[in-house]
Amino acid sequence: MIAKQSIHPEHYYQTKTLKIEHTHVFEKNWIFVGFKDQLSQNHDFITLQIGNTPVVVQNFNGELSALLNVCSHRKAKLQSASSGNRPLLCPYHCWSYKSNGALSGVPQNRTDFGLDDEDKKKLALKQFQLASCGNMLFVRIAHQGPTLESFLGPYFDILKEISQDFIDPVQQGSFHWDTNWKLACETVLEVYHVAGTHPETFAKFAKPEVEITHFNGHTTGNTPLQDLPKKWWSGARKHLKIEQSSSFTEYNHFFIYPNLAIGLTDGSLMSLQTYEPKGTTQSQLNFQLRLIKRPDGSKISDAVKAAIQANFTEFNHTILEEDRIVAESCQENMQCIDEPGVLGKCEDRIYHFHYAWRSDVCPHLSIRD
Ligand code: FES
Ligand SMILES: [Fe+2]
Repeated sequence: MIAKQSIHPEHYYQTKTLKIEHTHVFEKNWIFVGFKDQLSQNHDFITLQIGNTPVVVQNFNGELSALLNVCSHRKAKLQSASSGNRPLLCPYHCWSYKSNGALSGVPQNRTDFGLDDEDKKKLALKQFQLASCGNMLFVRIAHQGPTLESFLGPYFDILKEISQDFIDPVQQGSFHWDTNWKLACETVLEVYHVAGTHPETFAKFAKPEVEITHFNGHTTGNTPLQDLPKKWWSGARKHLKIEQSSSFTEYNHFFIYPNLAIGLTDGSLMSLQTYEPKGTTQSQLNFQLRLIKRPDGSKISDAVKAAIQANFTEFNHTILEEDRIVAESCQENMQCIDEPGVLGKCEDRIYHFHYAWRSDVCPHLSIRD
């Protein structure tokens, strides 16, 4: 048999597995936060949950810092939106913080709290490792671990290049799926499902073949595009005055373990997704669409972007809905079944994902993998 064994179904719904994943997958590895251009102004911020840790990444007068998004006073969220522009000031009683997490302001301190410098130091927010690769930002909660460069290996140069090429944001948003986060990731890691799941959408867009490479849990799947989308993009590039990426010209898809997926279409459009666990059988898909930059550095007008958005929103949404329906049907069955699934050679990217997951999780599990 060439096929390999998938992860046991219980890891798609058990609370103890998710608890281990919080610490040993999400808090251990470098997690993608966003692009530097999303945090270019003073007070710009992005929030996200990494395992058990609420994180805010904020611009303090040009300096970026990743801090615990929990007020030291009585534990309110410091920034509650997923992104925005606001000083790091608690909305509850107005305690404020500096870039290194130190307390900067405590209303009525002298009369009601009497905190001296030493006390304030103890009440500083935890600060986390923040590193960049080109225009992309990653955070790691664990103190110890490899640098971002060695974690990404050969993907460091790839992400650096594409993050500096695809700089024109077109759209972003998020969807809720009733599946474990791993099932959601798995839907983008093979094209074997295309004929069955996407006969009218993705099947007309890309050919059902893939060339797979990997480094640890990070994988690439290169799939040739059909002729029609290639022609469409060639015309669209002329119209938009953009040039095709010099390195990627088909449907080039990258997965960065544990939860970042990036698809490039004809070297022109980037579709990026992250998968956040929201419970054992709930996940949130965050997506962004970005166009490749213009050679002269000028920006594409909002009207043209709106037209692109209109064109892609429906296509993307239909494909995602098709994936959601099959993934949720697998999720429903996980609790009825005690046997792991099988993965064919064409699903090797899932195998590499599972291999990295097993290395992170299994040492902390006394149950089967
Ligand atoms: S909880 Fe933040 S200032 Fe009170
Ligand atoms: Fe799909």
